[in-house]
Amino acid sequence: MVTLTEPTVKTTPTGAALGAVVAGVDASRPVGPQTILHLKQALLEHHLLLFQRQTLTDEQLLAFATYFGSLFVPPAEIPVLAFRPGEPPPIVVTIAHGAQEHEDLGNHELAPHSDHHWTPCPSSGALMHALEVPSQGGDTHWLNLVLAYEELDPATKERIADLQLITYNPFLSDHSLPAAKYRLAPQPLVSPVYPHPLVRTHPQSGQKILYLDADTEVEIVGLAPSEGAQLIETLRQHLNQPRFYYQHRWSVGDLVFWDNQSTLHYRPAFDPAARRVMKRVSLAGSRPF
Ligand code: OGA
Ligand code: MN
Repeated sequence: MVTLTEPTVKTTPTGAALGAVVAGVDASRPVGPQTILHLKQALLEHHLLLFQRQTLTDEQLLAFATYFGSLFVPPAEIPVLAFRPGEPPPIVVTIAHGAQEHEDLGNHELAPHSDHHWTPCPSSGALMHALEVPSQGGDTHWLNLVLAYEELDPATKERIADLQLITYNPFLSDHSLPAAKYRLAPQPLVSPVYPHPLVRTHPQSGQKILYLDADTEVEIVGLAPSEGAQLIETLRQHLNQPRFYYQHRWSVGDLVFWDNQSTLHYRPAFDPAARRVMKRVSLAGSRPF
């Protein structure tokens, strides 16, 4: 019988709107049940956990990630990051700049978003491990969508309570056109759409979440386009406040585990000459309610 002695795990909040630093976990090795339960609880509370100085192979990253759920597998017909037509989706996604031939995210700005919002069951969380980081820039920022919801005024909360939002797949948008943030006129659908509640409920904590990306093209079901566009613009202005954010300056060996239901993440553009290599695993999620 293998007995796992469980080290003392210490969780220290970042002091920002979300996130905590976890000490006492070596993610490359089997982790005991008390520790896993503690980490699940800490993720619910803080929305993001940072493990420092980790050295992980892809297999070890995968083994640690799946303590927290099964892997996210996108439906075959729905493109997501690292999608290649006709190929099975990669399980461990490499997010690299300056290091390999096919690079999905480059060094450009990524506006605040949650992953896979346009799929029927967006991922519940993701774990990203830093292998190479720029000497300056390349930070990732996360936004606390529970806090953002809480801080809406009561009239807005009431107005948006039962709205359904379509988030259009950015991997299917026509890049020859200027990027749209709201769909004002119907367009032929190139893929099915999956409306989700604009205010979703966290499946474990029950907390309310303002489930909206900052930039991705959206549409509120059943509202006149001008009214919908204006409401979304107001909500996006509300999201755009530094007090909702945690900014993470990456070090090699960092492993960040974020709740993809209760947060958005954002990355400003960084030096095109810098190298940055991350590995990411996404966990399966349920249909938002
Ligand atoms: C992602 C992503 C941000 C970053 O992997 O989904 O948005 O900082 N990455 O690389
Ligand atoms: Mn992302």
